[in-house]
Amino acid sequence: MKQKVIPQNALLKLGDKEVELPVVIGTEGEESIDINKLRDLTGYITLDSGYKNTGATKSAITFLDGELGILRYRGYPIEQLAEKSNFMEVAYLLFYGELPTADEYSDFVEKTTKHTLVHEDVKKFFEGFPSNAHPMGQLCSLMCTLSSFYPDSLNPNAGKEEIDLTMIRILAKMPTLVSWIHKKSIGHQVMYPLNKYDYVTNFLYMTFGMRSEDYIADPVIVDALDKLLILHADHEQNCSTSTVRMVGSSQANPYASVAAGVAALWGPLHGGANQQVIEMLEKIKSDGGNVAKWVEKAKDKNDPFRLMGFGHRVYKNFDPRAKIIKQACDNVLSKLGIHDPILDIAKQLEEAALKDEYFVERKLYPNVDFYSGIIYRAIGFPTEMFTVLFALGRLPGWLSQWKEMRESNEPIGRPRQIYVGATERDYMNIAIR
Ligand code: ACO
Repeated sequence: MKQKVIPQNALLKLGDKEVELPVVIGTEGEESIDINKLRDLTGYITLDSGYKNTGATKSAITFLDGELGILRYRGYPIEQLAEKSNFMEVAYLLFYGELPTADEYSDFVEKTTKHTLVHEDVKKFFEGFPSNAHPMGQLCSLMCTLSSFYPDSLNPNAGKEEIDLTMIRILAKMPTLVSWIHKKSIGHQVMYPLNKYDYVTNFLYMTFGMRSEDYIADPVIVDALDKLLILHADHEQNCSTSTVRMVGSSQANPYASVAAGVAALWGPLHGGANQQVIEMLEKIKSDGGNVAKWVEKAKDKNDPFRLMGFGHRVYKNFDPRAKIIKQACDNVLSKLGIHDPILDIAKQLEEAALKDEYFVERKLYPNVDFYSGIIYRAIGFPTEMFTVLFALGRLPGWLSQWKEMRESNEPIGRPRQIYVGATERDYMNIAIR
């Protein structure tokens, strides 16, 4: 087979001027043109709305190949991590780049467990939210609120140990905050962490337990939630992660940067899609379950309806996470003895869309959000909590990306623009005389 020749430079011709731009190749053979000097050399900038062709950074955390449906954290395939690892180990791997030894793992778990309690005064802020406030709005505010309780850990240039402590604190307190949000929505008293439990069980205990110590978590549920958290743990430079890095690039502290990530994740085109999927499936069900009608609506450019949980900016073959989640969904529901009619609708919808030319042509496949909500629902979470659960899973990724960005001393993120507004004109009094 003929070997592909990779040029060292790209030649750019602008009128009679020619410039050479270096070619940069990633460890998995990803090809890029380094345009760092483009404006200095030519006066031009690039225009790339939605950053569809722009690599914002070099990163050693997550690799994904959208054409081949590959996702790896620090080189380890997502399928292997989902089957054999657990969320704490994956968080360690993302934070520090290598799998922990047994001692490193128990030290990490011990440190994280030690910080699960949230300062009692944070509750005063929390109590101000109306009980029907959206969980993502509450989480975003609470994350920023936490920063005011740790003034010593706001310095993004602090030493390794201080940064480490802040990351562990945020990781440890997140399940406590998320469980409070759920408890408030159902009018129950919040629960405090019980540190005899592991990360996921403690979260389930605080979310679904009542004030008693004999909470027994169903191992099927612990396992399902752990897997979902692993599958959401990082996804390279997606909208919320890029936001975390962008905010962090101004040297904002990790709490503020993560809060910004939560805000970005909230949107229905990103993490908010998991809530929208269930709402869509419910709507289709109550409308009589005519899947073909809704597929037609999704294709109609005059109809704002889109198939939520379908399509992805980078996956153009299949989303490996969706494949694992679909199977987990079947397992969990059958083990819990639940028959959820919306799972049938989801499967029919997937089947109809995958046969339809519109979806085939545009390479639109189910994404991570298509089946995850059905599992969350089977566990007992209300729909409005789904995106918060996504945030809980994505947290190690946000923190690791923030850390990597600071350690590589990235410059402040500040894109340019092409101005298309009015050209210079003289001011004339019209309204004020
Ligand atoms: N239903 C119907 N048509 C769709 C869908 C969909 N879910 N997704 C994309 N298309 C169509 C677009 O209308 C467009 O058609 P056109 O070429 O005729 O104009 C084409 O497919 C390309 O879509 P874009 O929106 O240009 O693709 P982009 O990469 O910008 O967007 C996105 C990706 C936002 C995920 C999109 O597919 C979408 O809106 N999906 C539904 C929301 C969703 O599930 N989001 C979660 C994504 S995963 C995550 O963030 C965790």
